[in-house]
Amino acid sequence: MTSSEHNRAVDYAQAGLLAPLPPVGRYLTFSQRAAGDLPILLRTLAALADGVRTVVGLGPAVLEQTGAKIPGMREFPQYVCSVVVPSTPTDVWVWLRGDDTGDLFHRSRFLVEGLAPWARLESAMDAFVHRGGRDLTGYEDGTENPKGDNIPETALVSPEMAESMPRGLVGSSFAVVQQWQHGFALWSQMSSKEKDLAIGRRISDNAELGDAPPSAHIKRTAQERFWPPAFILRRSMPWVEGEQGGLMFVAFSHSFNAFEAQLRRMVGLDDGVTDALFQFARPLTGAYFWCPPVQGGRLDLQALGI
Ligand code: HEM
Repeated sequence: MTSSEHNRAVDYAQAGLLAPLPPVGRYLTFSQRAAGDLPILLRTLAALADGVRTVVGLGPAVLEQTGAKIPGMREFPQYVCSVVVPSTPTDVWVWLRGDDTGDLFHRSRFLVEGLAPWARLESAMDAFVHRGGRDLTGYEDGTENPKGDNIPETALVSPEMAESMPRGLVGSSFAVVQQWQHGFALWSQMSSKEKDLAIGRRISDNAELGDAPPSAHIKRTAQERFWPPAFILRRSMPWVEGEQGGLMFVAFSHSFNAFEAQLRRMVGLDDGVTDALFQFARPLTGAYFWCPPVQGGRLDLQALGI
């Protein structure tokens, strides 16, 4: 892809999904109230979301209902094997980005009220950046994320890819959202060495460990080791609620293929080895969304005929 094509995809993208993490975030999910109200729900959402401070994803059931075909869109795969990975499809996903939790609370109230006639709020969860970008385990998260031009190349549907697709797809993205809960009691019982080996990096300096076992998380997910290479743009944020906490895993890509290749290796479907993350963490949710492009500061839903 040439750099001018990059720019074109970037011009249409929800800029918030490409940007570095904001200090705080708030995740909302909605379900539609009545099928007949979908066009007005989507039109209202398009006007309320700018794609910068408010990133929006639409679930497979909603897309299917519009009659539109978004190539590559599908349901999140459920796995019940040596570990359990649930699939919890959702109609609408919103990621509010900002720098003050109180402001996000008020912005979410505004959004919930605006959508109330047509959509029911299903969940709301605050999230934040911890110690400059670490997971609650203390390990730096995002080290091997794509950088520079590789960010849009990884995350966005390019004009080249969209050539044979319906109109209105350039600059759109496919989002994976998975709420992971950490078992901190289990984590505390692991020695420092066991923790480093589970992640595959040394916590003190973030260096990759030469002696990491195949179950180490970064061995399971090493992006350049897949064929085709499986790059994703991770934009996850820690969450806490009462005594519970974990990671809201969020990743963007121009298709779900890279994520699925990684997930299959994490759950052991490729070689029987399960990701060591499952020793202390488990996913509570799992959903796929299509993040439409933007035009003129609002969501561009022409691909859905809206
Ligand atoms: C509890 C949930 C998770 C935690 C705490 C976690 C944490 C981490 C940490 C600490 C790293 C090393 C630093 C880095 O490169 O970012 C990492 C790398 C990575 N993780 Fe996760 N992760 C989680 C879930 C997932 C899931 C579900 C996937 C995808 C299926 C994933 C994909 C990746 C990838 C692609 C890398 C970089 C691998 C490489 O190319 O070196 N992670 N993660």
